[in-house]
Amino acid sequence: RFHFYEGYTMEEVAFPVRVMKEMGVETLFITNAAGGLNPAQEIGDLMLITDHINLMGDNPLMGKNENALGPRFPDMLDTYDEDLIEQAESIKMEIPLHKGVYIGVSGPTFETPAEYKFMRIIGGDAVGMSTVPEVIAAQHMGMRIMAVSVITDLGVEGKIHKVSHQVVQEAAHQASIHLSYLLKEMIIKQ
Ligand code: HPA
Repeated sequence: RFHFYEGYTMEEVAFPVRVMKEMGVETLFITNAAGGLNPAQEIGDLMLITDHINLMGDNPLMGKNENALGPRFPDMLDTYDEDLIEQAESIKMEIPLHKGVYIGVSGPTFETPAEYKFMRIIGGDAVGMSTVPEVIAAQHMGMRIMAVSVITDLGVEGKIHKVSHQVVQEAAHQASIHLSYLLKEMIIKQ
């Protein structure tokens, strides 16, 4: 996994997804760590992504379009496959499985309180520094997409704490057993 904040271009970040598609992969399951913006969320919860807002300031499809991969102006309606979301919701989980809108930012800074507030106001339920480039490239190529966020910290007013990479990694580790279970069950269903 490559991240935009590491200095890779959006196209480089999306490249592995293009390789997967070329190898015959039709369905993309993608996961990330994200800051929760919705007051209903707690650290360690999971969130099925139903839509995204790209605030990364870039797009992996910039430049000449590869017509063999997909159209110049790809539609982003129904990017997150509704059947896959329904299937995921039917899986009995031990922890809350929310649904919501993921906001993608470049990072590497975490958000200021004002930025978290802004992101909630514009319709976000979680914010993170990945996933959007890969999802755009996958949608361009017509792949089916399901994406899940692990809520590793809270950007909810009144609940904001100092966040560090370690905090994020620990919360992600705690949630990993539930996330693995969800993905395993989803793969069995395909
Ligand atoms: N903001 C942005 N990216 C993140 C966060 C956050 O609060 N938590 C995990 N990735």
